[in-house]
Amino acid sequence: MNSIGFTKPSIGTIILLLLPFMLLALIFVVIYPNEFQLQSLTGIAPVIITHASNSTSFFSPEKPAFRLLIGILTLPDHYERRHLLRLVYSLEPPVNAVIDVKFVFCNLTKDDQRVLVALEIIRFDDIIILDCPENMNDGKTYTYFSSLPMLFNGSNGDDKPYDYVMKADDDIYFRLPRLVESLKEDAREDMYYGFVIPCDSMDPFHDYMSGMGYILSWDLVQWISSSNIPRNNSVGPEDMMTGKWMTLGQKAKNRFNTKPAMYDFPIPVPIDTCSHEFVPDTIAVHRLKDNPKWARTLKYFNVTDALKPSKLYHIP
Ligand SMILES: *[C@@H]1O[C@H](CO)[C@@H](O)[C@H](O)[C@H]1NC(C)=O
Ligand SMILES: *[C@@H]1O[C@H](CO)[C@@H](O)[C@H](O)[C@H]1NC(C)=O
Ligand SMILES: *[C@@H]1O[C@H](CO)[C@@H](O)[C@H](O)[C@H]1NC(C)=O
Ligand SMILES: *[C@@H]1O[C@H](CO)[C@@H](O)[C@H](O)[C@H]1NC(C)=O
Ligand SMILES: *[C@@H]1O[C@H](CO)[C@@H](O)[C@H](O)[C@H]1NC(C)=O
Repeated sequence: MNSIGFTKPSIGTIILLLLPFMLLALIFVVIYPNEFQLQSLTGIAPVIITHASNSTSFFSPEKPAFRLLIGILTLPDHYERRHLLRLVYSLEPPVNAVIDVKFVFCNLTKDDQRVLVALEIIRFDDIIILDCPENMNDGKTYTYFSSLPMLFNGSNGDDKPYDYVMKADDDIYFRLPRLVESLKEDAREDMYYGFVIPCDSMDPFHDYMSGMGYILSWDLVQWISSSNIPRNNSVGPEDMMTGKWMTLGQKAKNRFNTKPAMYDFPIPVPIDTCSHEFVPDTIAVHRLKDNPKWARTLKYFNVTDALKPSKLYHIP
């Protein structure tokens, strides 16, 4: 019989046992100081890029040009994509606008989602769960836009929490400085912005903006939430339906076509004119369906240039 394991441990033994954990905590604080800094300086998740405040050196002292909500419609189980998008947007250069990036999905359906999504919300607070069954062309976009006035009512001290609202897919990368630049001079009301469909059309009044990522001004979001026209036409290809609401309601007199600065990821043999080679002046690249496509895109735009040399890694 071995009785050593049952002897009462001395204070020295306890300290000895705890030492590795204390060291680990110390190492964590040394390696990830920014985690603590970002949280304590802004009190918000790091992906929310806000330049409204000049109380810290992170932010431009100018008044923000506008406020934009980017709602990325995705599925609860797309954890890895959300991780990538948070990473990418948190590393974008500062812009003189308030841009909130949020992930949007319908009701959770599985027990693991109820735990894992809850953890994400505790950490990042960038998720909106709408009251709907998960779907793509069965009215999710209608539910998204029409819920926003209620969800954000009063959150900015007035009834206009944002100037613009975007609906985006989870396979598109927006270069935020270029996006902000392209919106600066645009109308703040009755505005519809995006990539015109059909692919070879350059006329924003025919027919509608591709669902890859389009923007409506806040007054149109309010109209969507209160008018019968969208309510009665909520089911169907979501981007086409949004265009139809604007036509039926005689809305969106101000339209902005982003071509050729928005496009589908370049493929060797283009099947349509929605895709072309990378160009320096890009606002957004769409159809980033897998990590190699994200990597090629981010590499082209020199996003990895910020990497500092170190003895700790070697990335040729
Ligand atoms: C913040 O900006 C405002 C005007 O934009 C200025 O009046 C104020 O002094 C600035 N505060 C700090 C701490 O820089
Ligand atoms: C979504 O979930 C909420 C709360 O759990 C529930 O009240 C509502 O009926 C659900 N809606 C749909 C469409 O399943
Ligand atoms: C916002 O809230 C106020 C007061 O709580 C209410 O009077 C108003 O109707 C609400 N607006 C919307 C769009 O829900
Ligand atoms: C929407 O549908 C309802 C009933 O389903 C009808 O009473 C109303 O007139 C319709 N409104 C529009 C604008 O089509
Ligand atoms: C990326 O960096 C290279 C080398 O500095 C430069 O030639 C190129 O124009 C940059 N690309 C973009 C899209 O800015």
